[in-house]
Amino acid sequence: MKIYLAEHRGFCYGVKRAVDMALAAAETQQPAATLGPIIHNPQMVNRLKEQGIREADTLEDIPAGQVIIRSHGVGPEVYHQAKAKQLEIVDATCPHVKKAQQAAYSLLQAGYQVVIIGERRHPEVKSIFAWSDSTAQVVETPEEAREIPYFPRLGVVAQTTFAADDFNAIIAILQTKCDELQVERTICTATDLRQKAAVELAKKVDVMLVVGGKNSANTARLASVCHEAGCKAYHIESAIELKPEWISSVHSVGITAGASTPDWIIEEVYKKMEEMSIGEVVNVKTGNIVKGTVVGVRQDEVFVDIG
Ligand code: F3S
Repeated sequence: MKIYLAEHRGFCYGVKRAVDMALAAAETQQPAATLGPIIHNPQMVNRLKEQGIREADTLEDIPAGQVIIRSHGVGPEVYHQAKAKQLEIVDATCPHVKKAQQAAYSLLQAGYQVVIIGERRHPEVKSIFAWSDSTAQVVETPEEAREIPYFPRLGVVAQTTFAADDFNAIIAILQTKCDELQVERTICTATDLRQKAAVELAKKVDVMLVVGGKNSANTARLASVCHEAGCKAYHIESAIELKPEWISSVHSVGITAGASTPDWIIEEVYKKMEEMSIGEVVNVKTGNIVKGTVVGVRQDEVFVDIG
């Protein structure tokens, strides 16, 4: 059996940056808490807890020390309240999300009716909404776009992880709802790259393993794009969920992971497959098939101890 890794998988830039900032905060000896789970990955959240980073639901639960703002960002009032409480702000908002927040704010200042294309319950969309003075219209689907009343000037921003095709379909409708449409393309490429790489791999293997938190929307989406590409896909959070019968009678397995899945969890999945005596691993960087014990998985390479 051959095991392939998707070319783009796992931690995106913004999530890696947020986790690194949280780990650096843990080293300062000052109490630190994240506002909400830092990423949608329970294993990583637990690991941070072991380093002393706790999770708080609101600022009221953080009496002193450092508040870590996660990659999804927050509205301006949270910064004001944190400063008023004299908390040290560790701002791990992803720079792409910051850009979307600033775009919403600038459009509002310039007199546009702001429209956010995204999932209204997603924390990132909530943060962009707050930067638009909570006056934005949030649109999730073409049907909702058709419901928008006429405005002379519409200014649009996107949730960074929104699908580009769906975004374009909504834009086409919004064009008919105003005299002037200003579009800020704030979609980040990380999600798209992971989805494209997953589909590419799903087309050439018998089974896909999609690794990531069950509460991670982008991981769940990766599993569905693999299904849509005609490949059986299993969404697992960690190696212990891996079932031998899924892979015992297949010739090839592909592995991908959501943007909030750390490398060490992908590594554990690999090692578990090794324990199941699966044998051959394709080093995606060199294309060589290697045999031995997997000792590590990094962005585009598999490290194998061939003894
Ligand atoms: Fe940032 Fe894109 Fe990741 S917006 S958090 S780099 S998916």
